[in-house]
Amino acid sequence: MSPLHVVILAAGQGSRMKSALPKVLHSVAGRPMLHHVIATARQLGAEKIHTVIGHGGDKVRETTTDSLVNWVVQEEQLGTGHAVAQALPCLPDDARVLVLYGDVPLTRADTLKAMVESLDDKTLGLLTVTLDNPQGYGRIVRDANGKVTSIVEQKDADADQLSIREVNTGILAITAKHLKSWLPALSNSNAQGEYYLTDIIAMAVEHNLKISVSQPDNPFEVQGVNNRLQLAELERWVQRREAERLMTEGATLADPARIDVRGELVIGNDILIDVNVVFEGKVSLGNNVSVGPGCVIRDAAIADGVQISAHSVIDGAVIGANAQIGPFARIRPGTELAANTKVGNFVETKKALVGEGSKINHLSYVGDASLGRNVNVGAGTITCNYDGVNKFKTEIGDEVFVGSNTSLVAPVHIGAGATIGAGSTVTRNVDDNELAVARGPQRNIKGWKRPQKSD
Ligand code: UD1
Ligand code: CA
Repeated sequence: MSPLHVVILAAGQGSRMKSALPKVLHSVAGRPMLHHVIATARQLGAEKIHTVIGHGGDKVRETTTDSLVNWVVQEEQLGTGHAVAQALPCLPDDARVLVLYGDVPLTRADTLKAMVESLDDKTLGLLTVTLDNPQGYGRIVRDANGKVTSIVEQKDADADQLSIREVNTGILAITAKHLKSWLPALSNSNAQGEYYLTDIIAMAVEHNLKISVSQPDNPFEVQGVNNRLQLAELERWVQRREAERLMTEGATLADPARIDVRGELVIGNDILIDVNVVFEGKVSLGNNVSVGPGCVIRDAAIADGVQISAHSVIDGAVIGANAQIGPFARIRPGTELAANTKVGNFVETKKALVGEGSKINHLSYVGDASLGRNVNVGAGTITCNYDGVNKFKTEIGDEVFVGSNTSLVAPVHIGAGATIGAGSTVTRNVDDNELAVARGPQRNIKGWKRPQKSD
């Protein structure tokens, strides 16, 4: 088959977004809209993805280093036909070309597959959709036999044409050969004074091409974003679709309308997810994982049987089987909790390796630290890892018991089986099985009188 080249139109300003950020960089499901479109092009097997940029082009470029993307600059926005024409020199003569829009993020590759695969010199593939309210869109004009003859833009349409509900999504497929002969012939004598890509439909009909029409399963797939209301509508739709996928794959969701997945979430069976949970980046959940309300989980691998209680934040961590986390725990990047560990309320961990069966149940900070197996860290324990300039490590052996309200001043090593008395400030290493107590001895003063108030 001839190579597939995708042209993505992304040069428009998007003034109705009222934003300093170029429209195509606004996010849906945690990713810029343009990145969704690039991903779709990749899924279709594009050889090259020519992205036409203009307004805010430099900012758009900075967001991806995708090797398939070729940036094409459209200096002036003279219309969709003019935009595609800017990419013509980059298109091989034998290519099939698919035109997508940077602000139409959610078209599924499956919807476009047949259109690009069946494309040849004798066909033009067109994606249309039938809307209750076709206002603003180009109308699909068909003859008495139902054959497509042209597309008429809203502003150029007569009353009859305005009543047509089948509209142009903007997405079409055509061979490079035809584009190269027809685009230079476009005229801008129309209501908007623009070079319309849609005018090539009538040209194709004139040259006896077959207009092969397909439609998406759901109109949201071809919904463009012009303002933040439409952005929010698409976000809710894609989140609903994601929630349905999760339920199909074995998750019970307390409320499918109150979960947000901004990235890739892979799950096992028998997952329980309570309300208002946000997943970001790449997250995997094993079997029998439960996530309490209000949790945020980002870039984490979570093994079977883990229980994450309310309002915990997990970021950049690996969590072993049957670990129990939270409520109100903050697990920061570089944390690896082994199986059967417990990290309780108001505990913060960072770059902490916690061995099997170890517990940090309350009110602690454990950073730049390694803990062996079955360590018990008492409430209010702090690893003092930072002297204001450098960071240092705390190493704690197997079976260590750290009493409450202990400061472990790093670098420091606590040997296996050691015990630290509550309230200690530990500045020197402790050997295996030793008891370390580092606090002022208690003095009880008999007959002591409280100061009296003087007049
Ligand atoms: C276009 C179609 C219309 C269709 C509608 C679907 C034409 C003439 N009309 O209309 O039939 O129903 O999309 O949403 O094609 N762009 C550029 N450079 C330009 C002009 C536009 O890159 O010079 C980009 C825009 O950034 C946008 C896309 O092309 O992503 C569509 O442009 P827009 O002006 O929104 O086209 P419509 O008038 O909505
Ligand atoms: Ca538009």
